[in-house]
Amino acid sequence: MTTNGSPVLQAKGLVKRYGRVVAIDGSDLELYPGEILAVIGDNGAGKSSLIKALSGALIPDEGQIFLDGNQVHFRTPMDARAAGIETVYQTLAVAPGLDIADNLFLGREERKPGALGSVFRMLDRSRMRAEAKQHMADLGVGTLQNIGQAVESLSGGQRQAVAVARSAAFGSKVVILDEPTAALGVKEGNRVLQLIRDVRDRGLPVILISHNMPHVFEVADRIHIQRLGRRATVITPKSHSMSEAVAIMTGAAPPPDQQVGAAVSPGE
Ligand SMILES: Nc1ncnc2c1ncn2[C@@H]1O[C@H](COP(=O)(O)OP(=O)(O)OP(=O)(O)O)[C@@H](O)[C@H]1O
Ligand SMILES: [Mg+2]
Repeated sequence: MTTNGSPVLQAKGLVKRYGRVVAIDGSDLELYPGEILAVIGDNGAGKSSLIKALSGALIPDEGQIFLDGNQVHFRTPMDARAAGIETVYQTLAVAPGLDIADNLFLGREERKPGALGSVFRMLDRSRMRAEAKQHMADLGVGTLQNIGQAVESLSGGQRQAVAVARSAAFGSKVVILDEPTAALGVKEGNRVLQLIRDVRDRGLPVILISHNMPHVFEVADRIHIQRLGRRATVITPKSHSMSEAVAIMTGAAPPPDQQVGAAVSPGE
């Protein structure tokens, strides 16, 4: 990959406390253009909290977030979405009673052309269905019977696919995926990995949180290791093996920047 300048998304010194629990303890993060940044770490390391801060789902107690170099203050996930950051949360944010097409277009429904749409606010259902079908086909979710099927009747993996399709279709600056393959079978998991690569190759940088080391090492350009609420270091699939990454993650080995030089930056 090429070295390209300044981060699209950057966090500096984020802190989030829940009473006496410190979920994020001075965490930094940089996401560069055109990369897949994996975030790994043990349970409770603060990965989900970190990306919730980046996506407006929680407001950090301290620290700063920059999008394209400008400081942002997201108060809600809607703020982050409006700024182009599309997130799939670990606890899936789908509306179970709505169908697949409605879920894909939730919050950004398309209106009918002309006065029907602008004056009467009528939804363009047939267009949304056709587009939803295309997005799901792009994702290779061929097992869906009917795009009008309520999401509550889908399997866990199919729901996850709907959420990933939504983020890939609508993210305009950054796509963030928290454990997108956790509920998926081997075939579906591989399709989501391919979709993540496609999103990156279309020019959108992706943050991928995963416990699945083979997946991480397969797709990540860089790997941010989160430990005890902060970034321990950043490595790449070339600089470290999976077992070395796990050793840093669990504290069995010191992070490499305590041994030699600084964390890996893009292009290295
Ligand atoms: N809403 C909350 N209230 C209280 N404590 C919280 C809350 N959310 C997170 N925490 C705590 O903050 C810490 C970090 O949690 P977080 O969900 O960010 O971890 P994680 O790295 O995503 O873990 P996992 O791999 O299990 O998903 C944990 O100790 C957790 O118990
Ligand atoms: Mg989590």
